[in-house]
Amino acid sequence: MAKISIDINNVISKIDDRLYGSFIEHLGRAVYEGIYQPEHESADEDGFRKDVLELVKELHVPVVRYPGGNFVSNYFWEDGVGPKDKRRRRLDLAWRTLETNEVGISEFYKWAKKAGTDIMMAVNLGTRGLPDALNLLEYCNLDTDSYYAALRRSHGDKEPYGIKLWCMGNEMDGDWQVGHKTAKEYGRLAAQTAKAMKLMDDSIECVACGSAHINMPTFGTWEREVLEEAYDYIDYISCHQYFSNKTGDTEDFFASIDSLDDFINTVAGICDEVKAAKGSDKTVNISFDEWNCWYHVTEEDDERMKKDPWGVAPHLLEDNYTFEDAVVNGLALIKFMKHSDRVKIACLAQLVNVIAPIMTDKDGKAWRQTIFYPFLHASLYGRGTAIMPSVDTEKHPTSKHGSVTDIEASAVYNEDKHRLTVFAVNRTLDKHIPLELSLKGFGEFKNVRHIFLESSDMLLTNSGADEKVSPGERDGIPETLSPASWNVIIFT
Ligand code: AHR
Repeated sequence: MAKISIDINNVISKIDDRLYGSFIEHLGRAVYEGIYQPEHESADEDGFRKDVLELVKELHVPVVRYPGGNFVSNYFWEDGVGPKDKRRRRLDLAWRTLETNEVGISEFYKWAKKAGTDIMMAVNLGTRGLPDALNLLEYCNLDTDSYYAALRRSHGDKEPYGIKLWCMGNEMDGDWQVGHKTAKEYGRLAAQTAKAMKLMDDSIECVACGSAHINMPTFGTWEREVLEEAYDYIDYISCHQYFSNKTGDTEDFFASIDSLDDFINTVAGICDEVKAAKGSDKTVNISFDEWNCWYHVTEEDDERMKKDPWGVAPHLLEDNYTFEDAVVNGLALIKFMKHSDRVKIACLAQLVNVIAPIMTDKDGKAWRQTIFYPFLHASLYGRGTAIMPSVDTEKHPTSKHGSVTDIEASAVYNEDKHRLTVFAVNRTLDKHIPLELSLKGFGEFKNVRHIFLESSDMLLTNSGADEKVSPGERDGIPETLSPASWNVIIFT
């Protein structure tokens, strides 16, 4: 038996819509053959695939991080603006690919408009720095009588793009990063860059790089040292985390998500410690701007980058996601809702073709991976106020992550729509768990729907020919939660 009680008074926080953000990097076929493919039959007048745009719009993604990722650490944004026939082709060292620069910020801005999303722009703090970040900001956001604003206008974009969210580089703690830095070096550069950028446009928010994952050797000290330098100038610190089931142990995979609690609590604690030490009245929150499962083709990718480099839009990071990956992503989304008091932005990495919910066949259709669905449900029904549910459930042991609860759940109340949504995962593989759900303080609801993903085959995948994993729906509150299931119970 699982008893879930939800009391309207147990408010965690108003959820920032940007919790359901995503990410497009110049990597593999994310941009070329992904969002942009002028020769495809569904391409629009700007070369964007309309079939992809339709699926992106279905997800209601509020913000998309761009253009990287590791790619940004040696990105020369000027290569990607102005007349297309004059654009420089450049070697991308992060993914050992040839970047044609057919798509740059102007094209991506057009695409974002069509997709109904905002841009979260990253600047190169690997091989470049403050002056180039300022030039890019001026090109994007200013309407002044100055060189870079005029350059944008001369390229045909009369109105500024008005990009509000800026990442100060990417994963600068990682020694794989081109231009990798120590925390002190990076903290100072991020601080001075954010400070100068805000002098140019005081409407922007800035994200400093936190650790690339929780197991980085410098995790914790990196955050503290960066924040000691940059606290006054930035608004968010980033977290990144990818999940994997390399040993085929599904229950342990489901349990591994609990590490997000430690990750988020630790980073929030360090932010508050630096805030206290500085006597600041500003709270720095978390931008969890890369998260997903990622493991299915990492060895093949390493091999391809080593043996066959410098191709244009190679097949890289094209994980074909399983049913269990979708359940894990559902669990991650539940964690983000429960930590929405500190996690204000989160980006599913990534959006199209590269570790993505949306895939494209070059000469065929765009299709939905298994992981499309939990993200869709969270984005549609997870907006409003997060309520902390009380979840009374048994626990079960796992091989590497100790004893974890059978059920993990979150709840979101949308007052405007008078809609309460309960998200719940049964993370056992064999128990049909009877559910007792009690609500307090919400008034009357007239309808209840139960949307679910269930399968006895944890390794079921989708393809362009067959979307085997797709949600089912029933009326009413479910009597039991099936083993390894993702459940969305909507009261309206
Ligand atoms: O999303 C793929 C890569 O993962 C990104 O480029 C990098 O930031 C992270 O290591």
